[in-house]
Amino acid sequence: MTKIIIDIDTAVREITEGNIVALPTETVYGLGANALNENAVVKIFEAKERPVFNPLIVHVHDTDEFEKYGKDIPDEVYKLAERFSPGPITYIVKKKSIIPDIVTSGNDSVGLRIPSHEMFREVIKLSGVPVSAPSANRSGKISPTTAAEVMKELDGKIDFILDGGKCKIGIESTVVSFLENEISILRHGFITREDIEKVTGKINIIKNGKIISPGQMKIHYAPFTPLYITEDADEIKNVLKERAAVLDLKKFADKREIALNLFSELRHLDEMKFEMIIAEKTDGEGIGAAINDRLERASSGKIKIINSKIRITE
Ligand code: TXA
Ligand code: MG
Repeated sequence: MTKIIIDIDTAVREITEGNIVALPTETVYGLGANALNENAVVKIFEAKERPVFNPLIVHVHDTDEFEKYGKDIPDEVYKLAERFSPGPITYIVKKKSIIPDIVTSGNDSVGLRIPSHEMFREVIKLSGVPVSAPSANRSGKISPTTAAEVMKELDGKIDFILDGGKCKIGIESTVVSFLENEISILRHGFITREDIEKVTGKINIIKNGKIISPGQMKIHYAPFTPLYITEDADEIKNVLKERAAVLDLKKFADKREIALNLFSELRHLDEMKFEMIIAEKTDGEGIGAAINDRLERASSGKIKIINSKIRITE
């Protein structure tokens, strides 16, 4: 039986005893384990049914710990950390051997992140170990942003979920690589390209082409109901009527609010069991890049009207 708890000491005990526990972060809920304990980390992969080739992020309490787990860390990492950490950004740097290979899927690099959620920070501090944590969903499914959503994903697979309320950001961290003397965004997130470039100057964006970060796998965040992207949701809805649910992003005040609610909305519409979900993308500016990225990966293709007939493409 999986229990939702608010007691940090229990979560700390689970981590130090080599178990896994779901923990709140400011982005999405994570499924945490002691990153230095191989047997504990294996349990994460098992509970999520996550492919072993998809590396985990290592969460630490502050920048002093970067050198313990990473090496040859460029100055830009510290400059960015000064501005954005604790917060929703992950730095991919060369790894030290203290981090077991299972954490990084055999890669020579490690993703380091300093989360800002106070409960998660307490767990890291009190357990005294770095905590590896992927999002607390079954592999390929929608990331959870509340303890109740974690329960839906992992009920019976884990013992405890530490309830830290609804995540304040709602989409996963921006993943930035510093390997090969280049700075590249591997996954868009709340910290935008523009935010980063203000600190570092021009950077690269790695697009779906080469898979460097498995978070770039095309199908990810998929709801069970097929989702199709459209230029004009009203037009499609007029034709499909009750068969389709519209993921209405226009009702939110701004992109922060879209990010905050995107995964919960998707989950909610998914549970309503429509034949399909249709969604319009944002303009792609700022956090819009991260939102569009999540929508594209959740989608099964595009939908449009051609010669007054509904057509699904791709
Ligand atoms: O906001 C977040 O980042 C959340 C919370 C829990 O911290 N975590 C999260 O973890 O989204 P996960 O495992 O769902 O996504 C981690 C992403 C994956 O796309 C993974 O491939 C990439 O980071 N990643 C981790 N380590 C990497 C490495 N060494 N090299 C390249 N990509 C890496
Ligand atoms: Mg994930």
